[in-house]
Amino acid sequence: MAETIKNLLDGNALWVNNTLKHNPTFFDKLATGQSPKFLWIGCSDSRVPATEITNALPGSIFVQRNIANMVVHTDSNLLSVVYYAVKVLKVKHIIVVGHYGCGGVQAAMSNDNFGFIDNWLMHIKDSYRLHQEELDGIKDEQKRFDRFVEVNIQEQVANLAKISFIQEEWDNGDFPHIHGWVYSLKDGLLKDLNVSCSSNEGLEKVYQYINKKK
Ligand code: CO
Repeated sequence: MAETIKNLLDGNALWVNNTLKHNPTFFDKLATGQSPKFLWIGCSDSRVPATEITNALPGSIFVQRNIANMVVHTDSNLLSVVYYAVKVLKVKHIIVVGHYGCGGVQAAMSNDNFGFIDNWLMHIKDSYRLHQEELDGIKDEQKRFDRFVEVNIQEQVANLAKISFIQEEWDNGDFPHIHGWVYSLKDGLLKDLNVSCSSNEGLEKVYQYINKKK
């Protein structure tokens, strides 16, 4: 594990060497541009890096990560990333990837005060409120935590579907498809939560923008 700044730079030199050994034109190709098919919205957690855990290469996944893989509609950073991915890169899939054992979700589940970060955790608490009946009914705390992670991912998929410029893309064609996945730190496996979405039909009516082209 890299523990010092020097480890990271040495590691980089080693990676460049190994990469060029297998593919001498790797960087020449990447330097000409990117056309990733996927946007990944994941947790900042150091244990859930997008390309490594999917065995994908640089150039294949456009990435946005924050605490607990949230889609917050006042987050201009996230919205700019999503806008660029959808409107310019024309990604085919947006994947919200949460993970069991997420510290952000666990903090949101508690009644402790974490200072400034509480304002971010508030949005995760909103996911709890929307699924309160189900979650409060799970007596085992670990199971309730796991389920909270899952419903939070589901809510972030819905939050993406609520974005007007995503609905605009659906008016023009089939993409992007939005998926919700959960990652297990214990075995390294990703699981599809089957909460995929590629239209605004599943949303409450108040979130559905009118397709003016129809
Ligand atoms: Co996390």
